[in-house]
Parts: sequence; C-alpha cells; structure tokens
Amino acid sequence: MNYQVDEKGYYGRFGGAYIPEILHKCVEDLQRSYLRVLESESFREEYRTLLRDYAGRPSPLYFARRLSERYGCRIYLKREDLNHTGAHKINNTIGQILIARRMGKTRIIAETGAGQHGVATATVCALMNMPCVVYMGQTDVERQQANVRKMEMLGATVVPVTSGNMTLKDATNEAIRDWCCHPADTFYIIGSTVGPHPYPDMVARLQSVISEEIRVQLQEKEGRDYPDYLMACVGGGSNAAGTVYHYLDDERVKIVLAEAGGEGLLSGRSAATIQLGREGIIHGARTLVMQTEDGQIEEPYSISAGLDYPGIGPLHANLAQTGRAKVLAVNDDEALRGAFELTRLEGIIPALESAHVLGALPRMEFRPSDVVVLTVSGRGDKDMDTYLACMDRPEIAGNL
Ligand SMILES: Cc1ncc(COP(=O)(O)O)c(C=O)c1O
Repeated sequence: MNYQVDEKGYYGRFGGAYIPEILHKCVEDLQRSYLRVLESESFREEYRTLLRDYAGRPSPLYFARRLSERYGCRIYLKREDLNHTGAHKINNTIGQILIARRMGKTRIIAETGAGQHGVATATVCALMNMPCVVYMGQTDVERQQANVRKMEMLGATVVPVTSGNMTLKDATNEAIRDWCCHPADTFYIIGSTVGPHPYPDMVARLQSVISEEIRVQLQEKEGRDYPDYLMACVGGGSNAAGTVYHYLDDERVKIVLAEAGGEGLLSGRSAATIQLGREGIIHGARTLVMQTEDGQIEEPYSISAGLDYPGIGPLHANLAQTGRAKVLAVNDDEALRGAFELTRLEGIIPALESAHVLGALPRMEFRPSDVVVLTVSGRGDKDMDTYLACMDRPEIAGNL
C-alpha cells in the first residue's frame, strides 16, 4: 500500500487543500515550488549544514539500559530533545525558512502550542534577520511562560489569542487570519504535519531526517537497519512522521503512536482525535476532527500544550484508518508517570508531549529480542512547574 501523499495532496481519503479564495495563489505557488526547492542542490547543502552545525544533528540514538530492563526488550531513545532549542521542531523551521527565502517572502508568521515551534521559528528568524509574529493561545502563554520569554528575547512578537479555549487551534485560526491579510509577502511556517497540501508532506519530508538517521544508527548498533517497533507521540504529527517516514512501507516495522487521552476518552476532557474524531475539515485539510453531532469543532483538552489539538495530520489519519499504525490514547496521569520513570531510570527529563509515548510503554507486550526505537521529541525544561506539582503524588512520582 502507498502511505505517501498522492499528486493531489491526499493520503487515502485525507488531506487536500481547503482554503479561502484569497490564499489560493500563495498555496498554489508553494505547491508548485516546494519539491523543486527541497530537491535543489543549493537547498540541500544549506539545510544539511545548518542541521549539523547549528541544530547539532545527528541527534544521538541512545540505548536506554535501565528502561529496557524494565520493559523486557531493547529500547533505544532517539534524542530530539538534544537539538538546539530543545525539540524536533527546529528541523522543520530551518527548512521552511530556507524555502521562504527562496520564494522571496519577507515576513514570517507561526502558531504555537507548547511554544517549542514558536521558539524554533523565532530562532531561525533571528538567524536569517526576518520579522516574526507568533500566535499563541492565552492558556498556553500562561502554562509555557519560559518559551514566551525566549521568543520575546529572540525578537519575535508573541500575540496572545483569547478566542475559544485559547490553545493551539485558536492560535492556528489567528495565524491563518493574518496570512489572509498578507498573502503576498508573508510565509506561514506551520509547525506540524497539518494544514493544506503541501504542508503535511513538506513538514514530513523536513522531519524525515529523524528516520534517515535511525537507519544508519541502528545498523551501527544492532547490525540491522530497522527496528521491530517505532514509537512516537502525536499532536499534529510531525515528530511521528519524521520517525516513521523511511519505514512506512516496511511491514517488518510496527508503528505505535501515542495521542493525548487527557482525563480519559469518555471524560469529555480529551484530545484523542484519532479515537474520538470523525472525518471533517480543519485548518485546510480533510482529516479526523473532534466535532459535535452538528459538526462544530469540540474544544480539546490535554495537560500537554503541544498535544492539545482537535485535528491530526492527514498522513496519520490514513495510517490509523488503514491499520498501519496502532494508536493509543495515553491519559495525563500515565504520561506524568512515564516522565518520572524516564527521569529516575535514565536521568532524562522529557517534554510533557514526549511523556505520552513513554506512558504507552506499560501497555505494550514486548519480546526480549524486540528492538524498539522511541522518539523523545523534546526536553522538559518548559514543563518543570507541572512536574514539580506532582512531586508529592506518590502514584505519579513514587513507586519507582
Ligand atoms: C516537544 C514536543 N513534542 C511533540 C509535539 C507535538 O507535535 P507533533 O505531533 O507535530 O510532533 C510538540 C508540539 O508542540 C512538542 O513541543
């Protein structure tokens, strides 16, 4: 089966470009240019150099001995948390700003949830000397203060958004509104594998450096270039897309994705789009969407600002619907336990988003010979207040 995008921008039933008239020209320009730019020698050279010398790639593939002992298999962590700015998001923003420059754009906008994409965008704008506006829901501004301060120091304007439940969906709405007002000079750097075609494919390709490196690193460490399992958390889906990209057609490799269950699937406070969503259109793409009976988008909830989104990348909707990926909804408490477990067993404090895939481990049944690669998408610095609030909850921080 083909899991890649087709020439019309669809992954099976999902994807496409459902956009207002005013954006047609700039989205079509991007559709026409992105592959040509991505495949050009000058882009590849500049992108590779910045990934290596600026972002610090390749990120290590670390054999987690104590975590492996706990789960009875061989677990490797793909350490995206060690990238410059602390997450995988920089892989994408470096690529997109290079595309923006080649298309003659002079102003950058972005949305952000956890602030990691906002920081990564503000960072490359400082590097390239381009003005940058980042839209961020007021709820997220409050819970991710450290990242707001970083964006401001980097010279970006952070615009708090107060519509809806003031999180990622609302920030994205506002960024699209801005884009509609400035289609000619502005490039919208989307932070995940969401949005109208070609964004999901463009972001997946830019993040695919993750699986490209996994191949080489596994060959060195295990003598074979594929794992039995690939595991990643999924908000919009970019770190997961990067993790699985070169293995999509390799049926030896099982794909397990962790989405945010919030307080539970039936609690009314969840962001588990793949389990709870129905087909619909959000932010320019046909995908699974959390919506009411009459099609209004439901407010998602997750303890993690980066997974708190009522849609999902069309690539992942298709992987879930075709059965290629198994998707688990991991609740807040399971994620918090996963974060403390990694911290105490391996000395690595993960981002709350990444904590969701760690929280999926107790539900897995591995064989001792299984090789598991789990992507730690980001570091936990921005989440310290949430973690510290759990220190006196033994059911989360204890029993290790
Ligand atoms: C560290 C980290 N991991 C994961 C995510 C989720 O995004 P995606 O599904 O695009 O990887 C975010 C989003 O902000 C993040 O900051």
